Amino acid sequence: MPSLLFFIFFIIVGTMAWGAILAAPWVPTLKAQRKLLVDNLDLLEAPSDSPINGGELSPTIYDLGCGSGSILFEFADHYPNAKCIGYDVALFPLFIGLIVKLRHPIKYKNVSLRFGNFFKQHFADADVVVAFLMQKAYPKFIATLKRELKPAALIAIEAWPLPDIEPIQMIKGEKLVPWYVYRGLR
Ligand SMILES: C[S@@+](CC[C@H](N)C(=O)[O-])C[C@H]1O[C@@H](n2cnc3c(N)ncnc32)[C@H](O)[C@@H]1O
Repeated sequence: MPSLLFFIFFIIVGTMAWGAILAAPWVPTLKAQRKLLVDNLDLLEAPSDSPINGGELSPTIYDLGCGSGSILFEFADHYPNAKCIGYDVALFPLFIGLIVKLRHPIKYKNVSLRFGNFFKQHFADADVVVAFLMQKAYPKFIATLKRELKPAALIAIEAWPLPDIEPIQMIKGEKLVPWYVYRGLR
């Protein structure tokens, strides 16, 4: 039994450390900060080929390093037709997100939380990419976005701007860190 507990602890701590080493430790975005983005990001600015289902926009939204998926759940609350996909390598926050999804299987049927290193994933179908990462990861992150994203995709970055790239929008809220919004990166 103690060895099982040690194994579980090792997996939890180990995968969280892995995320921290790759791009950022798990620091969940505050509710007010999530709402600031979802309320102010103009999804009509998303690529013109975003499908419109039943009169509603249905963009594909990725959170790269999604933690417990709270940003995606916020988007899903506002845009029930959006397809929301998150990748994370840390199992503990993913597990929390899975519980939220299981508690609301209908409301969050369009939210998919996946275990995986986002540097190795494909997201060419993204209309919107959201990320909250440490600046040390930006060079590799930018290269990954340039490789994958369609030119019209929107990118929303929390807290620290991408270097040498002009944002198309800055979303600010009182006592909150800014969101920097970019279009494509080519
Ligand atoms: C600052 S947290 C942000 C969590 C979530 N996006 C939010 O705002 O609440 C960064 C997350 O990125 C994850 N992460 C870091 N590098 C990653 C990588 N290469 N692939 C997948 N997840 C990664 C970490 O495990 C951590 O959960």
